Amino acid sequence: MAVNLLLGLQWGDEGKGKIVDVLTKDYNIIARFQGGPNAGHTLEFDGIKHVLHTIPSGIFHDKAINLVGNGVVIDPVIFKKELDNLNQFNLDYKSKLLISRKAHLILPTHRILDAASEAAKGKAKIGSTLKGIGPTYMDKTGRNGIRIGDLELSDWKTRYRALANKHEAMIDFYDAKIEYDLEELEAEFFEAVKVLKTLTFIDSEEYLHQAQREGKTILAEGAQGSLLDIDFGTYPFVTSSNTTAAGACTGLGIAPNKIKDVFGIFKAYTTRVGSGPFPTELFDNDGETMARVGNEFGATTGRPRRCGWLDLVALKYAVHVNGVTKLMMMKGDVLSGFKTLKVCTAYEYQGKKITHLPYNIEPENVTPIYTEMKGWSEDLTGMSDASELPKELNDYIAFLEKELETPITIVSVGPDRTQTIHR
Ligand code: GDP
Ligand code: IMO
Ligand code: MG
Repeated sequence: MAVNLLLGLQWGDEGKGKIVDVLTKDYNIIARFQGGPNAGHTLEFDGIKHVLHTIPSGIFHDKAINLVGNGVVIDPVIFKKELDNLNQFNLDYKSKLLISRKAHLILPTHRILDAASEAAKGKAKIGSTLKGIGPTYMDKTGRNGIRIGDLELSDWKTRYRALANKHEAMIDFYDAKIEYDLEELEAEFFEAVKVLKTLTFIDSEEYLHQAQREGKTILAEGAQGSLLDIDFGTYPFVTSSNTTAAGACTGLGIAPNKIKDVFGIFKAYTTRVGSGPFPTELFDNDGETMARVGNEFGATTGRPRRCGWLDLVALKYAVHVNGVTKLMMMKGDVLSGFKTLKVCTAYEYQGKKITHLPYNIEPENVTPIYTEMKGWSEDLTGMSDASELPKELNDYIAFLEKELETPITIVSVGPDRTQTIHR
């Protein structure tokens, strides 16, 4: 049985959580494949808004198994908070939440290292969520990390101590004057590890292999977005994992030839939170309107998101890198009321017009070239059928489908589960 992937095509926060929740009814297993609590995936239904960071977005459904894959990094403290939130809603998650033994642990000192590294960078900082993501993946690839499976071994605290001591020396090296009380942080950490250990740890690659043999349906859930990918994103202003389709293979142990559909999610405009280049960024009333109507504040850090027009050069790149088979356009409702919409279809780069994403997209290197389209004024938020969509929106969709050579199969018109139009 095939596996489908769902991932973000821009700089994150495209609405992955919402769509995974909408699609979960069609799947037996939802599996997160990379990232960690830097992610904030928002789901809304029955008038309640939930934000998940590490737990897959299928958790609110009765039957689906939710698996945290080996490519994910887990902070027990944040994980415990997520579980506390589920407890508050009397959700019985124990039977349907599984964790890969090969997932890596974020230690309190990884978070401090993240803060020290950012402070040392000064103006050149990445704008990290400061959840310890970079340092944890560095320990993973440096072969020093502690994994979920290690928690089942008797000597893991000895290994923990050795690694934390090394981290303390590294924190001193940064000389960033970060104040912290490690004893207090460790007390909270060890308490949270106890809670984590009440969950089921599995050899997830074998579990997924068997599930495929039994014909189970699997949806792999990505975090962040393609332009934050460690290899293909706007390096160094990226996260530390592969957010693109290949990350689902390494982050779950799924073979490339088992992947069928790749669902690529994008906003009808563009946002970015944190530092780094953003060619179509707006600093005017239009950008402010997107931020206000779209309520563009980070789900993890609460930071305002930078807003701009849709960038088809970047989007096309993401479609290619991921092999997207179906597109899903989010937040179409936010563009209602704009008389004219702009879509970036090319860049002016070193005096030439180009349509591919070049190595360097700093503002001094690229100037976006826009195509203008007529906007629509109708409020979309109450619409539930494709036949209700205004002509100008259909024209916008048709233009994007032609440029991206990929069908748009879902148009999202509001944050709620029900505000989802299938085409
Ligand atoms: P994710 O990280 O990709 O899961 O996305 P986030 O949850 O960080 O950010 C998406 C935000 O947009 C959340 O606040 C969602 O509730 C909201 N959202 C999702 N789809 C829509 C939509 O179609 N319209 C509007 N107005 N909001 C949406
Ligand atoms: P979801 O899954 C948007 C950004 C940070 C920063 C850079 C590196 O909700 O789409 P990190 O904490 O990974 O060291 O930060 O990546 N970033 C995100 N931006 N959505 C996310 O996740 C993000 N996760 C990380 O703002 O610029
Ligand atoms: Mg988010």
